[in-house]
Amino acid sequence: MSTFNRGDARDARWVLTWDRYEPERQGVREALCTLGNGYFATRGAAPEARADSIHYPGTYLAGGYNRLISEFAGQRVENEDLVNLPNWLCLSFRIGDGPWFALDEAEVLDFVQRLDLRHGILERDVRVRDALGRTTRWIEQRLVSMSDPHLAALDIALVAEDWSGEITIRSGLDTTVTNDGVARYRDLASRHLEVLTLEHLGNDTLFARCQTSQSRLTVAQALRTRLFCGPHEVSAERSIVQSGGYIEQHIQCALQRGDALRVEKTMALHCSRDTAISEPGLAALRSLGHAGGFDELRAAHENVWTRLWGICDIEIENGVTAETAMKLRANQFHLLQTVSPHSSDLDVGLPARSWHGEAYRGHVFWDELFVLPYLVLRLPTLARSLLRYRYRRLPEARLAAREAGLSGAMYPWQSGSDGREETQRMHLNPQSGRWLPDVSHRQRHVNSAIAYNVWKYYQATGDHEFLCSYGAEMLLEIARFWACMATYSADIDRYEIRGVMGPDEYHTGHPDAPEDGLANNAYTNVMAAWVLSRAIDSVDLMPELRRCQLFERIGMNADELALWQTISRKLRVPFHDGDIISQFDGYDALDEFDWDAYRAKYGDIRRLDRILEAENDTPNRYRLSKQADVLMLFYLFSAEELTQLFEQLGYPFLPDSIPRNVEYYLARTAHGSTLSHVVHSWVLARSDRQRSWDLFCCVLDSDLEDIQHGSTREGVHIGAMAGSVDLLQRCYLGLEMRGNTLHFDPVLPTTLQRIRATLTYRSQSLEVDADHERLRIHSHAFTSIPITIAYRGHYRDLAPGESCEYLLLRPEDRDRDENQRTAIRSVNQFSVGPGRVSASMKL
Ligand code: BGC
Repeated sequence: MSTFNRGDARDARWVLTWDRYEPERQGVREALCTLGNGYFATRGAAPEARADSIHYPGTYLAGGYNRLISEFAGQRVENEDLVNLPNWLCLSFRIGDGPWFALDEAEVLDFVQRLDLRHGILERDVRVRDALGRTTRWIEQRLVSMSDPHLAALDIALVAEDWSGEITIRSGLDTTVTNDGVARYRDLASRHLEVLTLEHLGNDTLFARCQTSQSRLTVAQALRTRLFCGPHEVSAERSIVQSGGYIEQHIQCALQRGDALRVEKTMALHCSRDTAISEPGLAALRSLGHAGGFDELRAAHENVWTRLWGICDIEIENGVTAETAMKLRANQFHLLQTVSPHSSDLDVGLPARSWHGEAYRGHVFWDELFVLPYLVLRLPTLARSLLRYRYRRLPEARLAAREAGLSGAMYPWQSGSDGREETQRMHLNPQSGRWLPDVSHRQRHVNSAIAYNVWKYYQATGDHEFLCSYGAEMLLEIARFWACMATYSADIDRYEIRGVMGPDEYHTGHPDAPEDGLANNAYTNVMAAWVLSRAIDSVDLMPELRRCQLFERIGMNADELALWQTISRKLRVPFHDGDIISQFDGYDALDEFDWDAYRAKYGDIRRLDRILEAENDTPNRYRLSKQADVLMLFYLFSAEELTQLFEQLGYPFLPDSIPRNVEYYLARTAHGSTLSHVVHSWVLARSDRQRSWDLFCCVLDSDLEDIQHGSTREGVHIGAMAGSVDLLQRCYLGLEMRGNTLHFDPVLPTTLQRIRATLTYRSQSLEVDADHERLRIHSHAFTSIPITIAYRGHYRDLAPGESCEYLLLRPEDRDRDENQRTAIRSVNQFSVGPGRVSASMKL
């Protein structure tokens, strides 16, 4: 059953509404109600709440990390964490000398909470009665400004419904916060902040300047609290209460029955990494000084959200419920709060759990592979900025490779501030209570994900300058790394890659050597072959002078390229049962897993790693996967591309073996990662549209319904969130960037009647509108050269200002068309150029 209650119908596609307070689900709601602007984020905790077993207020600066060393089980463990910053929300009231209002202790008469996705406003409307029978209404609005990334504000109207008397508002700033949001990290050190200044300034301002203990990041927050009755500011008596790292103002005034007292709390936040400031404290005070009232901030903020939706929205209008449409927007909303136009100047990556909580310590994994396709086609400068985060850490990746005795660049599985490997070496299995070795850093495939993103960015934008300045260098160094990892085996006349893990984290090694990694993980090897080929292509694409300069700088020569060519044709890919791609060498010798027995015993068996370890067993013994591994290949490459890749590798691989591979691995996957449903929905999109749609709905629900039972409270899963949108655009619209052409091949799930999306491709702004019969593409007027688009092999040029329409093949006719792509009528409203495939960009 859905967690969301119907709001009013007008809003149903844009608003998440909850009509009751559910303490047991508060953690999830706080994560889902997080507001952010790409620069910082604040969880949706109630202003009156402090961190306890129900609530967890958290404010995080994008890329605001700090390292701490913990003494633990006789070992020194060093971790880098995303730091929880002082809580600026703190606000409550009391009537006379009654108790301070706290929702958990009050008699709640009415409760509605709404997250308005269109405007980025969080609202809470509560009516409470105290022990003396006095009813007060609390009407709250909150924003984290998308217009000015340094500002956030609360606006709370308190209505004395049936009483008259004294009311005291307390408005505070809590610098005593620690990183306490993830229960399994609680044995580790958690106090990251040193308070440099904590004071009140003037009549209405609180001010704190804190510094992280190791990274020496200074963060300044300035807070202003003002009271209004009608349009008039109330000049009430104020007193300051300070205790340790907590400071608050008490503001007292009198209310008559029916009066509404409006409390405006505005916060300005700056840090020592900001550009164009003198010092964060000064900057925060200046920002606050210039900040207008809540309505002014709200108007500017909503304007920017309106513009953002104009660029980014994907509409699914017919056939689906308003709730499905809303969930899709909620997923986009959180993505746009994690990386927004305000991030494009920041040196930050994309954290797997967003800036919404402390899971995975704010680290950056490979999940951007699921996010970049959305960004490159909407906000390419943001995609570029995320790639630049990786580029700046290339020296560190080179160092990591060198220290491992390898050449090229070896990016870390988990990355934070400086790009060193942040993966913990021990992790806790909460099910058994045991701390265990963690070897997930062996997931070297993260390197291919980075290379893939570089290439996709280049294909979407044609940003040659980026390729020459940054992209090619990353591709070459990653290719070098793979060439060095690959060892030649004369017995089979093939190159092999050993000691790695694939995306399926449940297999860490052979059952007899569980920590040593696997040999010839098919996904890793095919991706390595692809990277080697794209690296060679990038060399061809560079002007001679730039190429020579780059080669000289990184000490490359033509022999290396020749070797890459050879390896890219001879990497081993294991197969079993005929044409089933084996996940790794020896996979087929593993035992089959008794799925039914474990489902019957445990119900939810997503975390089979924990379950089996607690039983003193290991997933390494079985043919099971945490998440899509082999199937990632079908997710990232079209059948045509894969056929080409396998041909290059010298393996006979026919597209009609894809469904057999899909079924094989679908039956053996636990979906222990939210990314898994994205991939499975994708690979079923053409063969089983209903199942694909059902899985798509699971992806939409990953966080909104907390399908991993408890993980969302620690931060949303940004890969799955972006993946849901990408499923619509690249999968159901069949959008593929190949060569110099933007290919479309829409096949909508039967439930879904229509998709409308706005895309940016090679600087052109496109409106794409598809249903089951037609595909319409309109390019907005603009001074730019035409792009080439295609529907199932029918190419045409599309200049800015032009539109075109294709009549789509019916699903039952598509198979016939695979061989003879002729049955299409292309209804062109404007001039049609001849199909062309330019040689300047190869796949
Ligand atoms: C998944 C990884 C993912 C990480 C962060 C893990 O559970 O197995 O693929 O990168 O979560 O989202």
